[in-house]
Amino acid sequence: MDREPSSSAEILDGKAVAAEITAKIAVGVEQLAARGHRAPGLAVVLVGEDAASQVYVGAKGRKAKELGFHSVQYTLPADTAQDEVLALVAALNSDAAIDGILVQLPLPAHIDSSAVLESIDPAKDVDGFHPINVGRLAVGERDRALVSCTPAGCLILIKRALPLGLAGLDAVVIGRSNIVGKPMAQLLLQESCTVTIAHSRSRDLPAIVRRADIVVAAVGRAEMVRGDWVKPGAVVVDVGMNRIAAPERGEGKTRLVGDIAFAEAVPHARAITPVPGGVGPMTIAMLMANTLIAACRAAGQEPPQF
Ligand code: GUN
Repeated sequence: MDREPSSSAEILDGKAVAAEITAKIAVGVEQLAARGHRAPGLAVVLVGEDAASQVYVGAKGRKAKELGFHSVQYTLPADTAQDEVLALVAALNSDAAIDGILVQLPLPAHIDSSAVLESIDPAKDVDGFHPINVGRLAVGERDRALVSCTPAGCLILIKRALPLGLAGLDAVVIGRSNIVGKPMAQLLLQESCTVTIAHSRSRDLPAIVRRADIVVAAVGRAEMVRGDWVKPGAVVVDVGMNRIAAPERGEGKTRLVGDIAFAEAVPHARAITPVPGGVGPMTIAMLMANTLIAACRAAGQEPPQF
């Protein structure tokens, strides 16, 4: 897929694709209702007052309501005991109106996040963080798993940019987190890519990226991937959301940038996601998709494919 550099990279519009997915979810919700089943139910649990978490959780609840889901939010004080969080998850596990449970991360330091995440019924784990779901993805049972929302959304964008398929392409995932990097690598492997996971200890990252037909950057370092690292014709997906100073916009102003130097990369890439408006909107759409999938499975109905 080598080609000459051009200044015409396709901008992968996550907002538009997320709107298409949302429309498909709305159809799925109608079909469940038409067959006599209740609306999908999503419970979001927030512990503490982290400002960014409050914004994310609010957006998730609004989107769920917009889709006609049964949507509940539990906001617990930062000093809530771990046992209380576990008791809430246990109650939601046995609540027949709830299909999806999301515990917003990060949790306060006195709470063992793994213990909480592992207490969620894997069938209701719409974040896809439970080791059962991680394992099902790893053994290639995607149809029985719930998959982490951000990488699932990234894969949809990548497939849009590569309609002839991904098989045999070299994919580089930068970042090895459980939420993005590792599940992204599994999804790309499932698509028969040759996958490299690079991270902060990798030697000669520019050389690794220069080999890649597909680059997914999820490291949280502003504009770390430079344009001249991007192979001509590569598909570039930017999961980063970094707020940096923007004195050109006035004193004290900031702006959001990704992990990729976007303007530099555009002339090299075949397709690239912007920040904001690329991966971000896909994450929330895939959370809703996972909740619908969980609801369909609970109702004994075939879920739509996303
Ligand atoms: N905090 C930041 N991203 C996420 C996410 O995808 N899920 C949860 N539960 N918490 C987060």
